[in-house]
Amino acid sequence: AFEVKIASSGMTYTIPTGKSVCTALLEHGIDIPVSCEQGVCGTCITRVLDGTIDHRDVYFTDEEKAANDQFTPCCSRAKSSLLVLDL
Ligand code: FES
Repeated sequence: AFEVKIASSGMTYTIPTGKSVCTALLEHGIDIPVSCEQGVCGTCITRVLDGTIDHRDVYFTDEEKAANDQFTPCCSRAKSSLLVLDL
């Protein structure tokens, strides 16, 4: 598990193992639009302000992944204990 913080509200939520960031946040009323939910389409792309992303998509190039400033919350996760999202 890891935590995500919503920058605009300052609220922090736990993302349990086996649940996507999108699914976990939706349970708290935070609705990130999704389509493929497999890291293919890019619909869910969200900017990341802090923390280290564990990219699990096939959408971004290696260069974009290395920039560590956006991710696909339908499938990607965190390597750090906290990700701060620009939401
Ligand atoms: Fe398609 Fe996340 S919903 S990449």
